[in-house]
Amino acid sequence: MNSTPEKPTVSSLKASIERVTSVHRWTDKLFSFRTTRPAGYQFTPGQFARLGVVSGEEILWRAYSITSAADDNELEYFLVQVPGGQFSEQLKNLKPGDPMLVEKFSYGFMTTERFVDGEDLWMLATGTGLGPFISILQDPTVWQKFRNLILVHCVRNADELAYQELLASLPFRPQLAVGGARLQLLRATTRDTRVAAGNLQGRITGLLADGTLEAAAGLDISVEKSRIMMCGNPEMITATRELLHQRGLRPCRRTVPGQFVTEDYW
Ligand SMILES: Cc1cc2nc3c(=O)[nH]c(=O)nc-3n(C[C@H](O)[C@H](O)[C@H](O)COP(=O)(O)OP(=O)(O)OC[C@H]3O[C@@H](n4cnc5c(N)ncnc54)[C@H](O)[C@@H]3O)c2cc1C
Ligand SMILES: NC(=O)c1ccc[n+]([C@@H]2O[C@H](COP(=O)([O-])OP(=O)(O)OC[C@H]3O[C@@H](n4cnc5c(N)ncnc54)[C@H](OP(=O)(O)O)[C@@H]3O)[C@@H](O)[C@H]2O)c1
Repeated sequence: MNSTPEKPTVSSLKASIERVTSVHRWTDKLFSFRTTRPAGYQFTPGQFARLGVVSGEEILWRAYSITSAADDNELEYFLVQVPGGQFSEQLKNLKPGDPMLVEKFSYGFMTTERFVDGEDLWMLATGTGLGPFISILQDPTVWQKFRNLILVHCVRNADELAYQELLASLPFRPQLAVGGARLQLLRATTRDTRVAAGNLQGRITGLLADGTLEAAAGLDISVEKSRIMMCGNPEMITATRELLHQRGLRPCRRTVPGQFVTEDYW
Protein backbone atom coordinates (compact mmCIF):
# COMPACT_ATOMS: atom_id res chain seq x y z
CA MET A 1 0.00 0.00 0.00
CA ASN A 2 2.86 2.39 0.75
CA SER A 3 4.09 4.07 -2.40
CA THR A 4 7.55 5.13 -3.44
CA PRO A 5 8.52 8.80 -3.22
CA GLU A 6 7.26 11.02 -5.96
CA LYS A 7 8.72 14.22 -7.48
CA PRO A 8 6.33 17.14 -6.82
CA THR A 9 4.63 17.45 -10.22
CA VAL A 10 1.24 18.09 -11.69
CA SER A 11 0.11 14.72 -10.21
CA SER A 12 0.23 16.46 -6.84
CA LEU A 13 -3.06 18.05 -7.93
CA LYS A 14 -4.74 14.81 -6.95
CA ALA A 15 -4.35 16.24 -3.46
CA SER A 16 -5.05 19.49 -1.71
CA ILE A 17 -2.80 21.30 0.73
CA GLU A 18 -4.45 21.30 4.13
CA ARG A 19 -3.22 22.68 7.47
CA VAL A 20 -2.61 20.90 10.75
CA THR A 21 -5.00 22.38 13.32
CA SER A 22 -3.93 20.48 16.47
CA VAL A 23 -1.59 17.74 17.68
CA HIS A 24 -2.21 15.54 20.73
CA ARG A 25 0.60 13.40 22.13
CA TRP A 26 -0.57 10.26 23.98
CA THR A 27 2.91 8.87 24.69
CA ASP A 28 6.40 9.60 23.37
CA LYS A 29 5.52 7.36 20.36
CA LEU A 30 1.80 7.77 19.86
CA PHE A 31 0.05 10.91 18.70
CA SER A 32 -3.10 12.15 16.99
CA PHE A 33 -3.43 15.18 14.79
CA ARG A 34 -6.19 17.03 13.02
CA THR A 35 -6.17 18.84 9.71
CA THR A 36 -8.57 21.08 7.87
CA ARG A 37 -10.89 19.00 5.67
CA PRO A 38 -10.54 19.34 1.90
CA ALA A 39 -13.56 21.02 0.32
CA GLY A 40 -16.15 18.38 -0.59
CA TYR A 41 -14.15 15.53 1.02
CA GLN A 42 -16.35 12.46 1.56
CA PHE A 43 -15.58 9.27 3.47
CA THR A 44 -17.36 6.40 5.15
CA PRO A 45 -16.25 5.62 8.73
CA GLY A 46 -13.63 2.86 8.54
CA GLN A 47 -11.93 4.30 5.46
CA PHE A 48 -8.48 5.82 5.22
CA ALA A 49 -6.96 8.93 3.68
CA ARG A 50 -3.69 9.19 1.82
CA LEU A 51 -1.47 11.87 3.26
CA GLY A 52 1.60 13.43 1.70
CA VAL A 53 4.57 15.33 3.08
CA VAL A 54 7.35 16.99 1.17
CA SER A 55 10.74 15.44 1.91
CA GLY A 56 13.56 17.24 0.10
CA GLU A 57 12.57 17.22 -3.56
CA GLU A 58 10.07 14.42 -3.17
CA ILE A 59 6.59 13.86 -1.84
CA LEU A 60 6.10 10.83 0.41
CA TRP A 61 2.63 9.30 0.57
CA ARG A 62 1.18 7.02 3.24
CA ALA A 63 -2.25 5.68 4.18
CA TYR A 64 -3.87 6.74 7.49
CA SER A 65 -7.24 5.71 8.88
CA ILE A 66 -9.56 8.58 9.62
CA THR A 67 -10.57 8.67 13.28
CA SER A 68 -12.93 11.64 13.14
CA ALA A 69 -16.68 11.40 12.68
CA ALA A 70 -18.04 11.60 9.13
CA ASP A 71 -19.71 14.94 9.87
CA ASP A 72 -16.70 16.56 11.59
CA ASN A 73 -15.44 19.64 9.79
CA GLU A 74 -11.83 18.50 10.32
CA LEU A 75 -10.08 15.16 9.70
CA GLU A 76 -8.24 13.35 12.51
CA TYR A 77 -5.62 10.57 12.46
CA PHE A 78 -3.94 8.39 15.13
CA LEU A 79 -0.30 7.45 14.50
CA VAL A 80 2.66 5.63 15.93
CA GLN A 81 6.18 6.91 15.47
CA VAL A 82 7.90 3.96 13.78
CA PRO A 83 11.59 4.04 14.69
CA GLY A 84 13.45 4.96 11.49
CA GLY A 85 10.17 5.12 9.53
CA GLN A 86 10.56 7.44 6.55
CA PHE A 87 7.15 9.10 6.83
CA SER A 88 6.43 8.99 10.54
CA GLU A 89 9.89 10.44 11.33
CA GLN A 90 8.88 13.47 9.24
CA LEU A 91 6.01 14.08 11.64
CA LYS A 92 8.13 14.03 14.79
CA ASN A 93 7.85 17.79 15.35
CA LEU A 94 4.45 18.28 13.72
CA LYS A 95 2.67 21.40 14.94
CA PRO A 96 -0.45 23.43 14.21
CA GLY A 97 -0.12 25.44 11.03
CA ASP A 98 2.10 22.87 9.27
CA PRO A 99 0.99 21.88 5.75
CA MET A 100 -0.31 18.38 4.99
CA LEU A 101 -1.21 17.05 1.56
CA VAL A 102 -4.48 15.12 1.61
CA GLU A 103 -5.54 13.12 -1.43
CA LYS A 104 -8.98 14.08 -2.65
CA PHE A 105 -10.42 10.57 -2.41
CA SER A 106 -10.94 8.28 0.55
CA TYR A 107 -10.12 4.57 0.31
CA GLY A 108 -10.82 1.21 1.88
CA PHE A 109 -13.47 -1.43 2.29
CA MET A 110 -13.43 -1.98 6.04
CA THR A 111 -16.84 -0.41 6.59
CA THR A 112 -19.98 -1.66 8.32
CA GLU A 113 -21.90 -1.32 5.04
CA ARG A 114 -20.26 -4.60 4.07
CA PHE A 115 -22.44 -6.45 6.59
CA VAL A 116 -25.96 -7.16 5.40
CA ASP A 117 -27.04 -8.61 8.75
CA GLY A 118 -25.73 -9.58 12.20
CA GLU A 119 -26.43 -8.56 15.81
CA ASP A 120 -23.03 -8.13 17.41
CA LEU A 121 -20.27 -6.01 15.90
CA TRP A 122 -16.82 -7.02 17.17
CA MET A 123 -14.01 -4.56 16.43
CA LEU A 124 -10.55 -6.05 17.01
CA ALA A 125 -7.62 -3.62 16.98
CA THR A 126 -3.92 -3.77 17.72
CA GLY A 127 -2.01 -0.52 18.33
CA THR A 128 -3.05 2.30 15.99
CA GLY A 129 -5.53 -0.11 14.36
CA LEU A 130 -7.91 1.45 16.87
CA GLY A 131 -8.24 4.53 14.63
CA PRO A 132 -11.01 3.49 12.21
CA PHE A 133 -13.17 2.23 15.09
CA ILE A 134 -13.09 5.68 16.70
CA SER A 135 -14.79 6.97 13.56
CA ILE A 136 -17.13 3.98 13.18
CA LEU A 137 -18.29 4.26 16.79
CA GLN A 138 -19.28 7.90 16.23
CA ASP A 139 -21.66 6.86 13.43
CA PRO A 140 -25.29 6.81 14.65
CA THR A 141 -26.30 4.20 12.03
CA VAL A 142 -23.93 1.67 13.64
CA TRP A 143 -25.73 2.07 16.98
CA GLN A 144 -29.02 1.36 15.21
CA LYS A 145 -27.80 -1.53 13.06
CA PHE A 146 -26.27 -3.67 15.86
CA ARG A 147 -27.46 -4.76 19.29
CA ASN A 148 -23.95 -5.09 20.77
CA LEU A 149 -20.78 -3.18 19.92
CA ILE A 150 -17.62 -4.78 21.31
CA LEU A 151 -14.34 -2.94 20.90
CA VAL A 152 -11.19 -4.92 21.71
CA HIS A 153 -8.00 -2.86 21.82
CA CYS A 154 -4.72 -4.68 22.37
CA VAL A 155 -1.48 -2.81 23.01
CA ARG A 156 1.90 -3.52 24.49
CA ASN A 157 1.51 -1.28 27.58
CA ALA A 158 -1.49 0.34 29.22
CA ASP A 159 -0.32 3.90 28.50
CA GLU A 160 -0.99 3.15 24.80
CA LEU A 161 -4.72 2.68 25.43
CA ALA A 162 -5.62 5.95 23.71
CA TYR A 163 -9.04 7.60 23.27
CA GLN A 164 -10.40 6.18 26.55
CA GLU A 165 -12.26 9.34 27.52
CA LEU A 166 -13.90 9.75 24.15
CA LEU A 167 -14.89 6.06 24.07
CA ALA A 168 -16.38 6.18 27.56
CA SER A 169 -18.42 9.24 26.61
CA LEU A 170 -20.01 7.75 23.48
CA PRO A 171 -23.02 6.07 25.18
CA PHE A 172 -23.94 9.49 26.60
CA ARG A 173 -24.25 11.15 23.18
CA PRO A 174 -27.99 11.36 22.59
CA GLN A 175 -27.69 10.80 18.82
CA LEU A 176 -25.85 7.49 19.48
CA ALA A 177 -27.80 6.36 22.56
CA VAL A 178 -31.07 6.55 20.67
CA GLY A 179 -29.84 3.68 18.45
CA GLY A 180 -30.11 1.33 21.43
CA ALA A 181 -26.83 -0.63 21.07
CA ARG A 182 -24.74 -1.57 24.10
CA LEU A 183 -21.04 -0.68 23.89
CA GLN A 184 -18.42 -2.82 25.62
CA LEU A 185 -14.78 -1.76 25.79
CA LEU A 186 -12.32 -4.62 26.23
CA ARG A 187 -8.70 -3.57 26.78
CA ALA A 188 -5.76 -5.95 26.64
CA THR A 189 -2.05 -5.46 27.23
CA THR A 190 0.77 -7.82 26.32
CA ARG A 191 3.89 -6.41 27.96
CA ASP A 192 2.74 -4.88 31.23
CA THR A 193 4.33 -6.59 34.21
CA ARG A 194 1.33 -5.58 36.35
CA VAL A 195 -2.01 -5.61 34.56
CA ALA A 196 -4.45 -2.87 35.59
CA ALA A 197 -7.75 -4.01 37.09
CA GLY A 198 -10.34 -4.59 34.39
CA ASN A 199 -7.80 -5.08 31.62
CA LEU A 200 -7.15 -8.42 29.95
CA GLN A 201 -3.67 -9.81 29.51
CA GLY A 202 -2.52 -11.33 26.23
CA ARG A 203 -2.78 -11.03 22.47
CA ILE A 204 -6.14 -10.89 20.71
CA THR A 205 -5.38 -14.22 19.06
CA GLY A 206 -4.78 -16.02 22.37
CA LEU A 207 -7.76 -14.34 24.03
CA LEU A 208 -9.99 -15.39 21.14
CA ALA A 209 -8.66 -18.94 20.95
CA ASP A 210 -9.15 -19.67 24.67
CA GLY A 211 -12.59 -18.05 24.91
CA THR A 212 -11.50 -15.11 27.10
CA LEU A 213 -12.94 -12.45 24.78
CA GLU A 214 -16.34 -14.12 24.56
CA ALA A 215 -16.43 -14.67 28.32
CA ALA A 216 -15.47 -11.04 28.99
CA ALA A 217 -18.18 -9.77 26.64
CA GLY A 218 -20.75 -12.38 27.69
CA LEU A 219 -21.38 -13.10 24.01
CA ASP A 220 -20.59 -16.08 21.80
CA ILE A 221 -18.99 -15.59 18.42
CA SER A 222 -21.20 -17.27 15.84
CA VAL A 223 -21.91 -17.19 12.10
CA GLU A 224 -25.48 -16.08 12.77
CA LYS A 225 -24.88 -13.20 15.15
CA SER A 226 -21.30 -11.96 14.95
CA ARG A 227 -19.83 -9.54 12.46
CA ILE A 228 -16.15 -8.85 12.93
CA MET A 229 -13.78 -6.10 11.86
CA MET A 230 -10.02 -6.44 12.36
CA CYS A 231 -7.42 -3.76 11.96
CA GLY A 232 -3.73 -3.25 12.61
CA ASN A 233 -0.90 -5.76 12.74
CA PRO A 234 -1.14 -8.03 9.65
CA GLU A 235 0.10 -11.07 11.55
CA MET A 236 -2.70 -10.65 14.08
CA ILE A 237 -5.17 -10.42 11.21
CA THR A 238 -3.85 -13.54 9.46
CA ALA A 239 -3.97 -15.59 12.65
CA THR A 240 -7.40 -14.28 13.67
CA ARG A 241 -8.80 -14.94 10.21
CA GLU A 242 -7.66 -18.56 10.58
CA LEU A 243 -9.33 -18.88 14.00
CA LEU A 244 -12.58 -17.48 12.61
CA HIS A 245 -12.41 -19.79 9.59
CA GLN A 246 -12.18 -22.78 11.92
CA ARG A 247 -15.44 -21.59 13.48
CA GLY A 248 -17.21 -21.30 10.14
CA LEU A 249 -16.98 -17.52 9.67
CA ARG A 250 -16.05 -16.21 6.22
CA PRO A 251 -14.74 -12.91 4.80
CA CYS A 252 -17.13 -10.53 3.08
CA ARG A 253 -16.66 -10.68 -0.68
CA ARG A 254 -17.83 -8.17 -3.23
CA THR A 255 -20.84 -10.29 -4.18
CA VAL A 256 -21.05 -12.73 -1.29
CA PRO A 257 -21.96 -11.48 2.18
CA GLY A 258 -19.73 -12.77 4.96
CA GLN A 259 -18.95 -12.26 8.62
CA PHE A 260 -15.65 -10.39 8.69
CA VAL A 261 -13.66 -7.60 7.06
CA THR A 262 -10.04 -6.60 7.64
CA GLU A 263 -7.49 -3.81 7.17
CA ASP A 264 -3.77 -4.63 7.25
CA TYR A 265 -1.52 -1.69 8.14
CA TRP A 266 1.62 -3.08 6.50
C1 LIG B 1 -4.76 1.06 4.82
C2 LIG B 1 -3.71 1.55 5.80
C3 LIG B 1 -4.08 2.38 6.85
C4 LIG B 1 -3.10 2.81 7.76
N1 LIG B 1 -3.49 3.58 8.82
C5 LIG B 1 -2.56 3.94 9.75
C6 LIG B 1 -2.95 4.69 10.90
O1 LIG B 1 -4.12 5.07 11.06
N2 LIG B 1 -1.97 5.01 11.80
C7 LIG B 1 -0.68 4.62 11.64
O2 LIG B 1 0.16 4.93 12.50
N3 LIG B 1 -0.29 3.91 10.55
C8 LIG B 1 -1.19 3.58 9.61
N4 LIG B 1 -0.79 2.88 8.52
C9 LIG B 1 0.64 2.67 8.31
C10 LIG B 1 1.21 3.93 7.61
O3 LIG B 1 0.73 3.99 6.28
C11 LIG B 1 2.74 3.92 7.57
O4 LIG B 1 3.20 2.70 7.07
C12 LIG B 1 3.33 4.16 8.95
O5 LIG B 1 3.01 5.47 9.42
C13 LIG B 1 4.86 4.06 8.94
O6 LIG B 1 5.35 4.80 7.87
P1 LIG B 1 6.90 5.02 7.75
O7 LIG B 1 7.24 5.58 6.41
O8 LIG B 1 7.36 5.85 8.92
O9 LIG B 1 7.52 3.58 7.88
P2 LIG B 1 7.28 2.39 6.86
O10 LIG B 1 8.56 2.19 6.12
O11 LIG B 1 6.05 2.61 6.03
O12 LIG B 1 6.98 1.19 7.86
C14 LIG B 1 8.04 0.55 8.53
C15 LIG B 1 7.51 -0.58 9.37
O13 LIG B 1 6.85 -0.04 10.51
C16 LIG B 1 5.85 -0.93 10.97
N5 LIG B 1 4.59 -0.18 11.01
C17 LIG B 1 4.06 0.64 10.04
N6 LIG B 1 2.89 1.16 10.45
C18 LIG B 1 2.66 0.67 11.69
C19 LIG B 1 1.63 0.86 12.63
N7 LIG B 1 0.58 1.66 12.36
N8 LIG B 1 1.72 0.22 13.80
C20 LIG B 1 2.77 -0.58 14.07
N9 LIG B 1 3.79 -0.80 13.23
C21 LIG B 1 3.75 -0.18 12.06
C22 LIG B 1 5.85 -2.11 10.00
O14 LIG B 1 6.67 -3.12 10.52
C23 LIG B 1 6.46 -1.51 8.76
O15 LIG B 1 7.03 -2.46 7.93
C24 LIG B 1 -1.75 2.43 7.59
C25 LIG B 1 -1.38 1.63 6.51
C26 LIG B 1 -2.35 1.19 5.63
C27 LIG B 1 -1.92 0.30 4.49
N1 LIG C 1 4.59 0.50 21.33
C1 LIG C 1 5.80 0.86 21.79
O1 LIG C 1 5.95 1.31 22.91
C2 LIG C 1 7.01 0.71 20.89
C3 LIG C 1 8.27 0.75 21.44
C4 LIG C 1 9.37 0.62 20.59
C5 LIG C 1 9.18 0.48 19.24
N2 LIG C 1 7.92 0.43 18.73
C6 LIG C 1 7.74 0.26 17.30
O2 LIG C 1 6.59 0.93 16.88
C7 LIG C 1 5.92 0.14 15.92
C8 LIG C 1 4.52 -0.12 16.36
O3 LIG C 1 4.44 -0.80 17.56
P1 LIG C 1 3.01 -1.12 18.23
O4 LIG C 1 3.26 -1.64 19.57
O5 LIG C 1 2.09 0.05 18.07
O6 LIG C 1 2.40 -2.23 17.25
P2 LIG C 1 2.54 -3.83 17.28
O7 LIG C 1 3.95 -4.22 17.35
O8 LIG C 1 1.72 -4.33 16.16
O9 LIG C 1 1.84 -4.28 18.68
C9 LIG C 1 0.54 -3.93 19.05
C10 LIG C 1 -0.09 -5.11 19.79
O10 LIG C 1 -0.30 -6.17 18.85
C11 LIG C 1 0.21 -7.37 19.40
N3 LIG C 1 0.67 -8.28 18.37
C12 LIG C 1 1.85 -8.22 17.69
N4 LIG C 1 1.92 -9.26 16.83
C13 LIG C 1 0.81 -9.99 16.98
C14 LIG C 1 0.33 -11.20 16.40
N5 LIG C 1 1.05 -11.85 15.48
N6 LIG C 1 -0.85 -11.67 16.81
C15 LIG C 1 -1.58 -11.03 17.74
N7 LIG C 1 -1.18 -9.89 18.34
C16 LIG C 1 0.01 -9.38 17.96
C17 LIG C 1 1.35 -6.92 20.29
O11 LIG C 1 1.64 -7.94 21.22
P3 LIG C 1 3.18 -8.29 21.67
O12 LIG C 1 3.54 -7.27 22.68
O13 LIG C 1 3.03 -9.67 22.22
O14 LIG C 1 4.03 -8.24 20.44
C18 LIG C 1 0.79 -5.65 20.90
O15 LIG C 1 -0.01 -5.93 22.02
C19 LIG C 1 6.75 -1.09 15.68
O16 LIG C 1 7.53 -0.85 14.55
C20 LIG C 1 7.58 -1.19 16.92
O17 LIG C 1 8.83 -1.78 16.64
C21 LIG C 1 6.84 0.53 19.55
